Amino acid sequence: MESIRLAAPAKCNLHLEILGRRSDGYHALETVFQTLDWADAVEVRVKPGSGTSVSASDPTLDCGPSNLARRAVDLLRELWPAPERIHVHLDKHLPAGGGLGGGSSDAAAVLRAGHRLWPERYPIDRLLAAAGRLGADVPFFLLGGTAHGLERGDRLTLLDDLPRHELTLLLPELSCSTPRVFAALRPDERASREAAGATVLARNLAADPLSGSNRLTAACARAYPAMGRLFDSLTAAGHAWLLAGSGSTVILFGHHPAPAGCRCVHTAFRPRARLDAT
Ligand code: C5P
Repeated sequence: MESIRLAAPAKCNLHLEILGRRSDGYHALETVFQTLDWADAVEVRVKPGSGTSVSASDPTLDCGPSNLARRAVDLLRELWPAPERIHVHLDKHLPAGGGLGGGSSDAAAVLRAGHRLWPERYPIDRLLAAAGRLGADVPFFLLGGTAHGLERGDRLTLLDDLPRHELTLLLPELSCSTPRVFAALRPDERASREAAGATVLARNLAADPLSGSNRLTAACARAYPAMGRLFDSLTAAGHAWLLAGSGSTVILFGHHPAPAGCRCVHTAFRPRARLDAT
């Protein structure tokens, strides 16, 4: 039996702007992704036999056909029919519905494991071209580090690693539904705009990792009034904060204690070279 264990890190969006509506109903985005040190661990075991199975440390996680890690194995088999039995075990730490990309990152870790086990079958370019079918964030998690994304966030340009910054992630009890937050955007918030461009954003973020903003913030507060109250209390307390993706995680820069009603996790930016490190 062969097995490989890789980290599936969380991400945050250091900047997220809406550039308009696409013909497929999705919103065109401009974003800067950053991997974080907080991660799930994904183990891929290859055995004689056939078939796919997925298990998880979290007994409430659905490991059936809709599980993204399982769909990643299906994608590997579609790109090259793997004759072996493949079992994936997910050691879950990242919350679902937190805007940290946990499910997408697990799926990308399965694809990276496929590349590590069978580099000729699964070159990274081939995986990058196919990964967007699993979810808009999955191609980014094949690369990690810091990256600029356009369209659904899947037209990627790698950026230089930013200096290591300490972060505090606030994890409210509620989770936010991405479609619900997008649906709460006002017409002016979803109107067409020009992209700032990778060069400008990379320069601004290197000078100040807090220089970005997240266009989904007001929509998140409208869809989830409790999130709006959390934002107001953080601003009133003088914190610099940023919503992760469509929420519910809120990022504070630096090391802070958790406010009432929030779990908090202290972490830091994870550079590309440490993408897989468990
Ligand atoms: O990417 P994901 O499948 O999680 O997106 C869920 C929903 O969020 C989409 O069906 C769409 O309603 C909305 N969305 C969007 N534009 C994006 C990403 C998500 O409108 N770029």
